[in-house]
Amino acid sequence: MGGTGAPAGHGGADGLAGRLVVVGGGAGALGRAVVERLLADGARVVVPTIEPEGESPLATIAAHPGLEIVPSVDLAREDDVARVYDGRDDLWASIQVAGGFEMAPITETGLDAWRRMWEINATSCFLCCREAVRAMLRGPRDASGEGRGRLVNVAAQTALDPRRGAGMVAYTAAKSAVAALSVALGEELAAEGIWVNAVAPSIIDTPANRAAMPDADHDRWPAPEQIATVVAFLVSPANRVARSGVIPVYGRG
Ligand SMILES: NC(=O)c1ccc[n+]([C@@H]2O[C@H](COP(=O)([O-])OP(=O)(O)OC[C@H]3O[C@@H](n4cnc5c(N)ncnc54)[C@H](OP(=O)(O)O)[C@@H]3O)[C@@H](O)[C@H]2O)c1
Repeated sequence: MGGTGAPAGHGGADGLAGRLVVVGGGAGALGRAVVERLLADGARVVVPTIEPEGESPLATIAAHPGLEIVPSVDLAREDDVARVYDGRDDLWASIQVAGGFEMAPITETGLDAWRRMWEINATSCFLCCREAVRAMLRGPRDASGEGRGRLVNVAAQTALDPRRGAGMVAYTAAKSAVAALSVALGEELAAEGIWVNAVAPSIIDTPANRAAMPDADHDRWPAPEQIATVVAFLVSPANRVARSGVIPVYGRG
């Protein structure tokens, strides 16, 4: 496994050209912007999708020579995630965008909803980070001083400011776990030269949010492409020093 048809290797000094990056959740609103940004930067991008073969929401860009879609992957399942990273010993970065949102008062939050929020947001992040690190540590040691790899997770504003999480305690708790995992793992892996960071978006300017909040000032929301620019820097070898951060990406929101 591991081939995407594009050139192998780690590309130019500080760029992503030729580097292998997995983007979990890469078919979603933010994920797609990240994938398109990485492809434009010349990366080889692997996107696991929960949909079966031929039903990927990325169908319109599926023919891109730098893109490999791995179908039928539930990122909250250990064996599925292991299958995505298996054999990718030249992995440079992994970006955990997969997630989901539900809100309800605690009296109406069933154990199934609590578990769903944790599985989609926190368990998927943990499993992808773990398998990515295993792959990176199987690869060559850092010889150039740029480090062995990069991880970026996607938390949320409520993880940094849980007072904003009223009415969404399961989501807030799960995203707080993503943020804490990112910081702790960043410290755990620093000596290995693997930088871990998270971004914490406020409400993103997606079609779904526009439909749900038609009267909001959409110009104040961060756009997926703007967040993708931050993520692309964090996973690039140009990022030599930023680690263990949870970075607010709020725009003017
Ligand atoms: N949108 C916002 O305002 C906002 C704000 C703060 C943080 N965030 C976070 O930012 C990230 C992206 O948000 P978004 O708006 O782009 O969401 P989105 O459009 O719903 O994209 C999420 C993607 O993750 C996938 N996914 C979810 N669970 C999965 C699983 N178990 N296995 C495989 N794939 C799975 C989804 O696939 P399916 O669609 O096929 O299920 C979808 O492609 C999420 O982590 C979200 O929590 C979003």
